[in-house]
Amino acid sequence: MYDSVSAKSRQRIEGKMEGMQERQTREAVQEIIEFNRTPSELKGQIDQFVIGQGKGKKVISTAIAFHYRRLGKALKEAIVDNGDDVDAALKNTSTPKANILIVGPTGCGKTYTSEIASQLVGVSFVHEDMTRFSEVGYVGRNATDILVDLLVAAGGNPHVAQMGVVYLDEIDKVASEVVSYKDVSGKGVQKGLLHLLDGVENVVDLGREKIFLSTKHVLFIAGGAFENLDVIVKRRMSRQGIEGNWADYLMTADLAVFGMERQLMGRFPVKVVYDGLTTQDLKDILSKSAGSPLLAYAGDLEAWDIDLEFTDDALAQVALRAQEEGTGARGLITILHRVLLDDMYRLPGNYTGEFVVDADYVRSKL
Ligand SMILES: Nc1ncnc2c1ncn2[C@@H]1O[C@H](COP(=O)(O)OP(=O)(O)O)[C@@H](O)[C@H]1O
Ligand SMILES: [Mg+2]
Repeated sequence: MYDSVSAKSRQRIEGKMEGMQERQTREAVQEIIEFNRTPSELKGQIDQFVIGQGKGKKVISTAIAFHYRRLGKALKEAIVDNGDDVDAALKNTSTPKANILIVGPTGCGKTYTSEIASQLVGVSFVHEDMTRFSEVGYVGRNATDILVDLLVAAGGNPHVAQMGVVYLDEIDKVASEVVSYKDVSGKGVQKGLLHLLDGVENVVDLGREKIFLSTKHVLFIAGGAFENLDVIVKRRMSRQGIEGNWADYLMTADLAVFGMERQLMGRFPVKVVYDGLTTQDLKDILSKSAGSPLLAYAGDLEAWDIDLEFTDDALAQVALRAQEEGTGARGLITILHRVLLDDMYRLPGNYTGEFVVDADYVRSKL
């Protein structure tokens, strides 16, 4: 008796969960079908968060807007053809994929752009640190773990997962030459990735359950510093008698010379070079970005009725010192923290009202 009741409840729960998943899927598919932002509209939205990188953001917005518009259109048609069967629709939809490679120094907004864009489109986003990866069979993460992360980010819903974005951070660190000092070759890691990028039916084995997860529609964005890649490109350009900015001429062949697998890099047809941030960019991040770290501090202090203000000179001073850190925009957080730490301890409960930070105050704290 007890057993039968519990079996019944279990069935009800499972039924409910299935219903939830179905609704989730339907909503996610609907969101993509309705996606109608133009590349310039998407860029305009990204601009509110990501400062600088004008050219790069243009290329990325175009690639992402086209990817999801294309996927939405194909899904719409496939759903009509397949009578509301999302599974079949996703399977039968084929879209040429425009995976994106972003080359640029640390802390210049490669990951940030990718994450913000995914949020703006409304799809799942996972961030993978490639330095933690190794060949299957060795200790470390491998390509299948990416699928699990994607599934988790999608709330366990494989349909939603299949439409998400995977960001492969520090992809340059799996170049064969870079990791050759380890007993694990970067080549193996790159081969594993290749398999994943090709979007064949992957299986996530959860023991009790096997989940089939296609990466056919997943948008992959890879980022890396690729130190001295410019030298490689410039050398080729001069050999071929090409003049101009190396960033406009980056090719798969150059990345192969760097130590990347040619086949892998070929799967990233959209190649973007991000610039190092200038001191002015850093100042603009503080004063103009919707994701400014200063806004976060101001918000924290507001909770104690303290109204944090930085003078223009103070912002310039913070930007200057952050630049010296050599970690891009990450330096801003380091510097702000050093400037504000004492006050964050001292002020709450003892002071309310305006709290103005000027350049002298910044200098006195560093
Ligand atoms: N161009 C930028 N505009 C605004 N904020 C930025 C920019 N670049 C970096 N940031 C800030 O610095 C943090 C680290 O940047 P991130 O994108 O992770 O660097 P990376 O280029 O190494 O991937 C971001 O979370 C963001 O807050
Ligand atoms: Mg990063």
